[in-house]
Amino acid sequence: MIIAVDGPTASGKGTIAKALAAHYGLPHLDTGLLYRAVGRQVFLSGGDPDDPADALAACDFPEKLLKDSALRDEVTGGFASRVSVHHDVREALFERQRSFALQEGGAVLDGRDIGTVIAPEADVKLFVTASTEARAKRRHKEMIERGTDVPLEVIVGDLERRDERDRNRDEAPLRAAKDAVILDTSDLDKDGAIAAAIDAVDKRS
Ligand code: C5P
Repeated sequence: MIIAVDGPTASGKGTIAKALAAHYGLPHLDTGLLYRAVGRQVFLSGGDPDDPADALAACDFPEKLLKDSALRDEVTGGFASRVSVHHDVREALFERQRSFALQEGGAVLDGRDIGTVIAPEADVKLFVTASTEARAKRRHKEMIERGTDVPLEVIVGDLERRDERDRNRDEAPLRAAKDAVILDTSDLDKDGAIAAAIDAVDKRS
């Protein structure tokens, strides 16, 4: 069974994908981490994330970069969003994601274009959304837990900029596949969101 989980930043898609993988005993790939590694590599090499050649060169990042805790920070998230607009970057990361999806026994992948580009034949496609306010509050809470306090308005602005870029790019824009189940987590807590996702998968598969 291939399960595709797409959605914007801080929608809860990562938590949901991880929980689905544990529930169904499937391997999980957070594809955002690949784009974050490319963004981080551009940053470390002093390149320009808006330059397609710099971004493509960074796709050759060392594997150990995937374990770098800086991958999760906001600066890297911004760089990831900028490198991910380039066609060559998406093409360079395609095969790795596609073969993960097609491995024997199935897989869960989360990202922006899993149900539309990487694995359009996925057995179940979830598109996880939440209001900007709910997502910003979650991000704010996570940041406070990690010891950084950024004003909520700044987080809202950052999320809106990232969403706008992800939705309006020419290459693999963030959008729900036609056959995706839309899961709005605005009013759900973590357990509620996971339960709703399992329910949706059980109904579809
Ligand atoms: O999901 P996450 O916030 O870690 O993703 C970081 C950035 O990587 C996103 O803003 C998006 O631009 C890009 N991305 C993408 N396609 C994916 C996963 C992530 O373009 N499948």
